[in-house]
Amino acid sequence: MAHYRCVGEVPDKRHTQFRDSAGRLRYEELMGEEGFSSDSALLYHRTVPSAIVDSAVWDLPAHSTAPNHPLKPRHLRLHELFTDDARHVDPVTGRRLVLGNNDVRIGYVVADAVSPYYRNAIGDECVYVESGHGTVETVFGELPYRTGDFVILPRATTHRWLPDGSSRLYAIEGNSHIAPAARYLSRFGQFLEHAPYCERDLHGPGSPILVEDKDIEVLVKHRAASGGIIGTRLVYADHPFDVVGWDGCLYPYTFNVADFMPITGKIHQPPPVHQVFEGDNFVVCAFVPRKVDYHPLSIPVPYYHSNVDSDEVMFYVGGDYAARKGSGIGIGSISLHPGGYAHGPQPAAVEASIGVESVDELAVMIDTFRPLELGEGGTAADDGVYAWTWAGRKLE
Ligand SMILES: [Fe+2]
Repeated sequence: MAHYRCVGEVPDKRHTQFRDSAGRLRYEELMGEEGFSSDSALLYHRTVPSAIVDSAVWDLPAHSTAPNHPLKPRHLRLHELFTDDARHVDPVTGRRLVLGNNDVRIGYVVADAVSPYYRNAIGDECVYVESGHGTVETVFGELPYRTGDFVILPRATTHRWLPDGSSRLYAIEGNSHIAPAARYLSRFGQFLEHAPYCERDLHGPGSPILVEDKDIEVLVKHRAASGGIIGTRLVYADHPFDVVGWDGCLYPYTFNVADFMPITGKIHQPPPVHQVFEGDNFVVCAFVPRKVDYHPLSIPVPYYHSNVDSDEVMFYVGGDYAARKGSGIGIGSISLHPGGYAHGPQPAAVEASIGVESVDELAVMIDTFRPLELGEGGTAADDGVYAWTWAGRKLE
């Protein structure tokens, strides 16, 4: 994030004495990416941010994965992972792992409970709010969220989720930073004119949250030397939400999908025009309601395509996705189209799309450049028959 923000009280000059009204020094913390060589923020704490009084193992929820083998496209029905009467599920520990690899993990949760204090030290999180609203409290301040928001939480941001009622959350956990596509930005980081959104659409935290309390537990997800993920429960002597002010270019923010201005064309536009964010070895795109191709002979649904370097994950959030008609896919579905396999519209969808002038679809896509494996939630949500829907039969 090159977009500078300043919230609360900060001293005129960085790294200088900054005292409260009683003369006590504030404790300055630099939170920075890539050593001291990329975006950072300076936070001013009332208490020592490194003072811990305990450390214990946090046994993470199920996070092992199994290969998509034998290879086939999949339809995963995420809404079936949580029944309507599920209660007291929180947005962090309640996530069920749907798909994952060494670059990104995709989890899903229907949550109605306040989460523990939590910090993902493995990478940035990008949580898409399928439905619901509430607040994410962070060390930077409060971040309201609502349906359609992407909530971006930089690596190691201490936070907790407070859903107001029930929220359906699609959690994209990177092993890297997740940021707007680099090609949308100037060499100094400003959004360019051709970008489908800009700084005005990004909403950072407002005023600081100041809590005085002792012995606060924070769950930390972090890296094992083997490349795996492990968890620790740290107990802080003082409440981590004690920041009187901060400034810089690194902070959590929200971006609502309704603020994505789609780029359309005379003939079918390829998925990169729908890109929102990117991480290492994956991209996040949003297919939003839009006018479609206006060439007199255009075919509005996509051509068949073989993304030889990608696994493609579509999460269908709203509207009627024309290309998938007849496949069983609906709202709350995921389609996984893996590398090594060409995919495209259901056969009848091509002819049916001709003459259509606009679509009301809303879908979030993740393309990963290394194969995805199925998590426990992905296996549980698999419909088992999607692979045969183009042919209309399975070999007996
Ligand atoms: Fe595709």
